[in-house]
Amino acid sequence: MANIDWSKLTFSYTKTNTILRTVYKDGAWTPVESLTDDNLTFSSYAGALHYAIECFEGLKAFRGKDGRIRLFRPEENAKRLQRSAKFLGIEAPSVEMFVDMCKRAVLENIDYLPPYEEEGASLYLRPTLIGTNPQLGVQSSKESTFLMLCSPVGAYVGGALDAVDVVIARNYDRAAGNGSGSFKVGGNYACSLYSLNKAHDLGFKAVLYLDPVNKKYIDEFNSSNFFAIKGNTYITPKSDSILPSITNMSLETAAAHLGMEVERRPVAVEELSTFDEVGECGTAVVITPVHKLVDKPTLESEEETVYTYGDGQCGPKSLKLYHFIKGIQRGEIEDVFNWNVEVEL
Ligand code: PLP
Ligand code: COI
Repeated sequence: MANIDWSKLTFSYTKTNTILRTVYKDGAWTPVESLTDDNLTFSSYAGALHYAIECFEGLKAFRGKDGRIRLFRPEENAKRLQRSAKFLGIEAPSVEMFVDMCKRAVLENIDYLPPYEEEGASLYLRPTLIGTNPQLGVQSSKESTFLMLCSPVGAYVGGALDAVDVVIARNYDRAAGNGSGSFKVGGNYACSLYSLNKAHDLGFKAVLYLDPVNKKYIDEFNSSNFFAIKGNTYITPKSDSILPSITNMSLETAAAHLGMEVERRPVAVEELSTFDEVGECGTAVVITPVHKLVDKPTLESEEETVYTYGDGQCGPKSLKLYHFIKGIQRGEIEDVFNWNVEVEL
């Protein structure tokens, strides 16, 4: 095992043993290579660099209580990458190739897979697909390079389950109404940086975006979906401009399994005052409870309405859902929905 203080891991880059690469050109993928150098060489005219012809995924590998290694729902990430690639008009790997490369990356970087005892840590896989042939005009790339990257990570912000304060950015959008919001393309993240940086300067950990058309309903955060708990109901936005989160989909299933009602529907901003618990959900953030949610006419404005949830701890229903998902990922409870894919040693 690598000499790492697993308890100090944050969500940041750590060099691992290898990255994997395959290139789609002339109608086929080249054999998958393992590279020990993270630095790549490709044309400075690559479409990825000029026209953001890039999409990516994020999923985690866990060491289980029984010593087995599990990937959480990798086929869903493979399918979502195919959807993003189709949006960009580039070739994506098959589900089988994607999952095989996830397994190979874990095995080649097993030294960086955190121990079971470190509950908040995991090996984060970052499948990345970029257009790499030289081009000048705006068009989909003919050649795509698929990379399987990985890095050991801890909590996205603070410690696991630390509550965060977030702000609504009414005067900025991360995506357009009929645009790229539901695809996991790098451009969406670039578009969120200006408002995210402003929010950070104001002391907030994330921005909550509203639906870009009516500015009436809640969409999602920069890097996670939104959910709320009201009584015994799990509520999450239905919107065409948010990423279809695999964590959120799993939480909906988990909530129903645990006897809760589940509502996926437009969530009006006015409802914020009626919720018992609010949180972010996603692979990187897992479940991150929201403590204060601030609504301002503009991010720059002094005027604000503050919604407060709980006392700074994770609420009981969110905590129950967190333990259910983590329990399955870590092999502590039965994988009743067959979500895990095992990596054979
Ligand atoms: N929304 C955005 C904008 C994200 O970047 C992510 C992270 O992947 C999510 C939601 C959560 O998706 P998932 O649960 O599939 O990781
Ligand atoms: C993930 O949760 O996997 C993500 O891709 C979020 C990332 C943008 C930090």
